[in-house]
Amino acid sequence: MRSIINITITIFLYIITINLCYADTTNEEKQTMVDVRQQAMQAMWSRLDRLSTLIAAPGETVTSSDGSTIVIGNKNKTEPLETYALIHAKEAKQDALEVAKLLLQVEEFWPLHTNASHVKSTDAERLVWIIPEAFHRYYTDAVAASNNLNNSFDLNDASKIKRSVCMLALSCGRCHSAFRKVRFDNLKKEGRGWTGSYSACWQYRNEIILNSSAIRE
Ligand code: HEC
Repeated sequence: MRSIINITITIFLYIITINLCYADTTNEEKQTMVDVRQQAMQAMWSRLDRLSTLIAAPGETVTSSDGSTIVIGNKNKTEPLETYALIHAKEAKQDALEVAKLLLQVEEFWPLHTNASHVKSTDAERLVWIIPEAFHRYYTDAVAASNNLNNSFDLNDASKIKRSVCMLALSCGRCHSAFRKVRFDNLKKEGRGWTGSYSACWQYRNEIILNSSAIRE
């Protein structure tokens, strides 16, 4: 009798241990998914912030790779792409390619079990899972905008480049305004990258208000 009880307890403990291990790894996986998507977003933001140099109006300040700020001159005779490479010590095209890769990397990183009731550190609104089609639509809008940006670099067309930087920035901001929780310190830290509202982009913002598909064109 005693040995039967012992065996039962052993089996019971064994099952509990397996269950705990399993729960641990899945919790870890959920946390990792949130961490990775947040890091990818941060990485996109630093690239987009550099890309915004291309649309900066004369008199606006941009921050260079070493952290110093530079005012875009009124009589700026340098080409925007050249200014970019000088200020950021990196080619704009490279940044645009990396944004496209980052977007694809975390496109599937939004399963239901990574919402705020499972992972505390997420700032994703519950709406992501309540209206997933809308979230997906905004996501693919950003992918299309980033593909357009890469195409316009290939064409080396300055006005297309400006338009697609704006459309990309606006696609980030539009999704955040619906699907990401607002925290004051985020706003302060990320500035315009968060909302995607660069003043040089006002005409494109109006275009999107009239026709939401314009972001993909
Ligand atoms: C389809 C929606 C969507 C698009 C498009 C999108 N984001 Fe996000 N972004 C989110 C959500 C949701 C979060 C919150 C993620 C979390 O906390 O789990 C987020 C978080 C962030 C964060 C904060 C990350 C952190 O450390 O918490 C930054 C920065 C950011 N996004 C930048 C961008 C930039 C730049 C773009 C465009 C190139 C972009 N995002 C495109 C939905 C989007």
